Amino acid sequence: MRWRTVARARDAVHRPNMPMLTPRDIQVFVNPNHGTPGIVVLPAAGFRRAKAEITAWDGFAVTPLRHLPSWAADAGVATILMKDEATRFGLGSFKSLGGAYAVVNLVRDAQARSAGPITVTCATDGNHGRSVAWGARRFGCRCVIFVHEQVAQWRIDAIAAFGADIQRVPGTYDDAVRTCSEQASANGWSIASDTSWPGYTEVPRAIMQGYRIMADEAADQWEGPPPTHVFVQGGVGGAAAAVSAHLRARFTPVPKLIVVEPDRAACLLASARAGALTAIPGDLDTVMAGLACGEPSLLAWQELERAAVAFMSIPDESAVETVRLLMNQNIFAGESGVAGLSGCILAARNMHTRALLGLTKDSRILVFNTEHSAF
Ligand SMILES: Cc1ncc(COP(=O)(O)O)c(C=O)c1O
Repeated sequence: MRWRTVARARDAVHRPNMPMLTPRDIQVFVNPNHGTPGIVVLPAAGFRRAKAEITAWDGFAVTPLRHLPSWAADAGVATILMKDEATRFGLGSFKSLGGAYAVVNLVRDAQARSAGPITVTCATDGNHGRSVAWGARRFGCRCVIFVHEQVAQWRIDAIAAFGADIQRVPGTYDDAVRTCSEQASANGWSIASDTSWPGYTEVPRAIMQGYRIMADEAADQWEGPPPTHVFVQGGVGGAAAAVSAHLRARFTPVPKLIVVEPDRAACLLASARAGALTAIPGDLDTVMAGLACGEPSLLAWQELERAAVAFMSIPDESAVETVRLLMNQNIFAGESGVAGLSGCILAARNMHTRALLGLTKDSRILVFNTEHSAF
């Protein structure tokens, strides 16, 4: 079938002088349902509120949009620009735009109802929990964070440093989401989840509105004709959907959006193949810890099922190598943060997937580094 392909290393086309990413097996699925989303998941007014709030916080600063000329040469495209979220609020990831914003909304809702002090809670792979814990300290409420067994100790320590109570849960991120939800109902806590499900959408919607800030800044910083392609990494899909909705609003023609996931946790790719939101089984064991999700967010899927031109997956080795190569250029990114860049290079260097995604020597590509490296 035209839209289904597994790309192989031997098909690789460009061989630049500079040693860059090793060609590896990837999967690319061109979305047969691509088009304009029928549902407005992120209304413009919600974004204006999020932007007004978050940009007023102490420590807010616009993050850099970096030119990556050697990567563009490696990919055989005109330009690759990377919005670099590593320094956002000093918290090491773009997630500080979302979780803390959810917390301030929950605190203000409780104040408006004269409900007294609240406890906020969420499940996390690391970055979201850090943002929620930071927000809880900043806006004055108690915080309980659920981490699954694969979350690295340094990530747990970073959350605990903001005074959050850490609860460890056996299993995966999705198990932690379920436990968090049960504990929240039993204890009357307020959930600040970055993923949504039927009946639980307003908090994650606000979180995604906050994420739009990184796309908004990138659009302001972008010079010349719009990007032709955007490669963005997917966990539950919230970040990719926020970028998608925002770039659809900011650029004409709309750039082609490609969602990139780890091959061990590709729930959005599986959903695209199935033509419906689909959870995938397995231990989701990937070094791209922030992307280790088996179940897409409902809201994210409602945007991406039409808006994404393609979904793809990459192996762990490629993310690890991308981190190392960026570090040689003094750019500090974590494995989850570089999946989009990694996927872009692998897809562009393979003649079959290059053609499938319409990549040419004139392509102008936008990617997002969504986290700082662990080092
Ligand atoms: C660094 C990083 N990048 C990307 C993502 C993906 O975001 P989402 O789960 O909204 O798709 C995450 C999620 O935790 C993350 O930590």
